Amino acid sequence: MHGPFDLEALRAEFPAAQRMLYLDTAHQAPLATSIRAALHRFYDEGHASAGPKPVWLQRVEAVRARLAAFIGAAPEEIAFTKNTSEGLNIAANAIPFVSGDNVLMVHGDHPNNAYAFLNLRRKGVETRFVPLTAGTADIGTFAPHVDARTRAISISHVTFHAGHRFDVEALGRFCRDRGLLLVVDAMQSVGVLPIDVKRMGAAFVAAGCHKGLLVPQGMGFLYVDAALQGLEPAYLAAASLAEPPADFIARPDRMELRHGAGRFEIGNFNLPDLHALSAALDLIERVGVGNIERHVLALGDRLIAALDRLGIRLVGPRDRAQRAHIYVLDLPGEGWLNYLTASDVRVSPERDGIRISFGLFNTAADVDRLVEILARRIAMPERALAAG
Ligand SMILES: Cc1ncc(COP(=O)(O)O)c(C=O)c1O
Repeated sequence: MHGPFDLEALRAEFPAAQRMLYLDTAHQAPLATSIRAALHRFYDEGHASAGPKPVWLQRVEAVRARLAAFIGAAPEEIAFTKNTSEGLNIAANAIPFVSGDNVLMVHGDHPNNAYAFLNLRRKGVETRFVPLTAGTADIGTFAPHVDARTRAISISHVTFHAGHRFDVEALGRFCRDRGLLLVVDAMQSVGVLPIDVKRMGAAFVAAGCHKGLLVPQGMGFLYVDAALQGLEPAYLAAASLAEPPADFIARPDRMELRHGAGRFEIGNFNLPDLHALSAALDLIERVGVGNIERHVLALGDRLIAALDRLGIRLVGPRDRAQRAHIYVLDLPGEGWLNYLTASDVRVSPERDGIRISFGLFNTAADVDRLVEILARRIAMPERALAAG
């Protein structure tokens, strides 16, 4: 055992990370054995008896409570969604914007965050894209763009395209002082960095569960601050109501909404993923999310030092406070991606180069192996490089 958790035992849970050099958690986490077992248990129940649905639903509430505690929320502040984008769309449509209002975003942030708000153009709401200041986004980035009609700021906690980590807590204080709502896209940070939604002062936090939260695609969550009263959901189903009709006949006269985030839920849940999430939280909490953060930052330190030696530019932030697990290397063109793929390295192409992203199962040896592979191509004669 090295460091605060048993990395070797943990890594054994992720066979994909042993078969290849897996540096792509920002795209998708490989499935852990214990999480696959939770899925199998669920499928076995369905296979054997079409499931004890009341038990499944009790488990949904148990996972809701655990996830809420994991991010510092109350259970009634969590709605389960399909993914981050659905959560952001719910938030965009729940904020009581009126024509002439505006919302601020960082230029180049995730397109689905932007589209959720751009879709409000038909209601006369303007989405303003502000440029980064000195490579980051902070209060100074937004302050000059806030006016009397600004209602909200929507921002990623960690950006997918260069790994900036924004100080959302400072931004939350700024929003509170100005009477703005803060919407946080935590897709890249949840399960990697400790999250405390109350310290963030966020009105909404949306994320999917298939990256840091380690479950297969198809499930997300939305935190909705309980202090926000009277939010109207754009979609409605019996599940959104305080008193769903017991006889399953719609009652136009009894449409009081459920208290809390539950009003944004509209039907059956992704039950397989909810079972997977329970096992994922077991795994993550066994390691400790603070340890995961320290671990990926240490891997980042090692990577940055090696990039400096190799003369490869890091596209995103170098400062520890401004980064997390995502590192984009200024290695443009398809040649590098093809070379890394042929070398059994799983990474993602990004707009400014090659994106490396660490998960809790990655090791210092993974970084060293990557560096060795990069160095080998740098040392190749021009002719070999041209050949691919
Ligand atoms: C920061 C960020 N936001 C949103 C998304 C979209 O996520 P989803 O597919 O859960 O809607 C991603 C996906 O990569 C992301 O990195």
